[in-house]
Amino acid sequence: MIDAICVAGARPNLIKIKPVIDQLEALGAKTTFVHAGQHYDDSLSGVILDDLGLRQPDLSLRVGSGTHAEQTARVMVAFEPIVSELRPDVVVVVGDVNSTVGCALVAAKSGAFVAHVEAGLRSGDWAMPEEVNRVVTDRVSDDLFAPSADAVANLQAEGCRTDQIHLVGNVMVDSLLANLDRAIGRDTLARLGLRAGHYALVTLHRPANVDDVGVLARLIEVLGSLAEDIRVVFPLHPRTRTKLEGLAVPAAVMLIEPCGYLDFVALEHGAALVLTDSGGVQEETTVLGVPCLTLRDNTERPITVTEGTNQVVGRSPERILLAARDVLANGWPKRSPALWDGKASVRIADILVGVPEGRLRPSDHRAR
Ligand code: UD1
Ligand code: UDP
Repeated sequence: MIDAICVAGARPNLIKIKPVIDQLEALGAKTTFVHAGQHYDDSLSGVILDDLGLRQPDLSLRVGSGTHAEQTARVMVAFEPIVSELRPDVVVVVGDVNSTVGCALVAAKSGAFVAHVEAGLRSGDWAMPEEVNRVVTDRVSDDLFAPSADAVANLQAEGCRTDQIHLVGNVMVDSLLANLDRAIGRDTLARLGLRAGHYALVTLHRPANVDDVGVLARLIEVLGSLAEDIRVVFPLHPRTRTKLEGLAVPAAVMLIEPCGYLDFVALEHGAALVLTDSGGVQEETTVLGVPCLTLRDNTERPITVTEGTNQVVGRSPERILLAARDVLANGWPKRSPALWDGKASVRIADILVGVPEGRLRPSDHRAR
């Protein structure tokens, strides 16, 4: 039976790794859960683990915050001895954060098989740190678990072998569907004085939106205008909170702490509209059938536009307001992509565990 190291380091990746760990274990695999500690605040990590029912990490790298080089390097230095000692058959990494690429690089040189969950997503925007992480992680991975057909096409176009690419669906959706009833059974809306269908939910944390105070100030102004039409609730990512200091935020925009996972899903489910730059939120709103405006110039998740409820509206205040008012007045069709059915992790575990004897041996790995 296989021995797997499963890595996560930041909020969204805890949510993505949980169903993969569960399904690997259901098939008898031994898993070691490594938390890189890129996110360490209770609101971004501890509460998320609790809400998911994800056990405390078996090993914590505690890398903390830093520049890209500092953070990625700390991940690599801390992860290398773990891989050397445990000699896993496979290292499973998820998503596109610095912890993902750091661990994938270490694993690739260790002789372990590397599996990337959420492979093949491309924004085409090389200014996004995550785009660099996506391309590098996919290049050094053996198994590429793609959430959608566009991701498969990207991997094929980059020359990945057909036998490496597996269209499995979306693990973020596995967690969403597994927790939806518990989330909407909570008193989240009542606690915040909100009524389902009568508020807009906002999240912003991309450097392109929040690091430049001028850009952020314009977005806040848009939210202030929107708040004249509908209540606006905005859980603040710590990156954004720091940048907001010194900016005047209209009183009608309700700023709150980052939510736990269940409270956030409850807020998404009850929202009339979501405005975001988050990757995971684009996906979750698609499955929930809640209209989503993505305040970016591109998305690595185009399927949420072509087969979901997402519109990429950029950062122009006029365009954002026009789109928001249009959606609020006219609604938006509900659709959901194929294989976003809550079973992506089952397919991943079947492929990783149900492989012919010897597939995961380093000799095979080196032959790629
Ligand atoms: C990271 C990921 C991003 C992902 C996001 C999910 C990279 C390059 N970025 O962005 O892809 O969408 O996580 O939320 O990997 N901070 C705290 N407490 C924490 C963690 C961070 O206060 O627990 C603050 C620190 O000031 C830190 C800043 O937030 O410098 C940014 O954190 P970092 O992990 O570097 O990037 P994110 O913006 O969170
Ligand atoms: N999320 C959460 N609390 C919040 C905001 C988001 O639990 O206050 C969850 C959300 O449901 C989704 C994930 O975090 O599952 C998205 O993570 P984030 O936006 O931080 O990162 P991205 O997906 O952009 O990488």
